[in-house]
Amino acid sequence: MALDTAKIKGIAFDAYGTLFNIASIDFLLEQLFDDRARQVAAQWRRKQLEYTWLRTLMGKYKDFYSLTEDSLYYALEATNTVGSEAQVRELMQQYYHLAVYPEVKATLARLKGKYRLAILSNANPSLLEKAAAHNGLDEWLDEIISVDQIRQYKPAPGVYQLAERSMGLPTENILFVSSNTWDVSGATAYGLQTAWVQRKHSVMERLDVQPAVTMTNLAELAELLF
Ligand code: 2OP
Repeated sequence: MALDTAKIKGIAFDAYGTLFNIASIDFLLEQLFDDRARQVAAQWRRKQLEYTWLRTLMGKYKDFYSLTEDSLYYALEATNTVGSEAQVRELMQQYYHLAVYPEVKATLARLKGKYRLAILSNANPSLLEKAAAHNGLDEWLDEIISVDQIRQYKPAPGVYQLAERSMGLPTENILFVSSNTWDVSGATAYGLQTAWVQRKHSVMERLDVQPAVTMTNLAELAELLF
């Protein structure tokens, strides 16, 4: 389904990999764990996602910060990497002050005024609020929407329904933007218009749905909408 720009009244952005760049965490991992850093990073990110999916299926919700810390300890053990509690704490603290990708601020500033703008994320409200404030995004955001309110993680349909409720807009008026293929698929399956920001060379999921548009960065989104 092609993007129906005339219907878009609100835009909800995923956080990690879409607005916020987690590269600073990878950089610290390399400083702390040298040649093991890449293995730890890969296990950590995979397990973090798996725990969001498993806990939602199990009906055993735990907040994103806590399960991210659990998955870091898992990654250290699974790669036989010795990491101290102080190093874990230092890595976790990175989430509070991640940098945004270079084009994010100018894009949000350009979209503000014409669209309601929100973050829709698995992360805790405090993580999102601090990271948004650290980058000065809060002047352009109308909502910061965390799944913590419903205690279910993406791609549970309830998450995207939460966006409708929080933004006060019906499905067809919301564009959801994410770099995460499983997240784009979940939002599309729910009925939101979706844009995939293909920041890394990755392949779209085979889940019988396709995003309305694919782009390499958010500046292309502003070009499409004006
Ligand atoms: C989110 O912010 C994990 O990037 C994903 O929900």
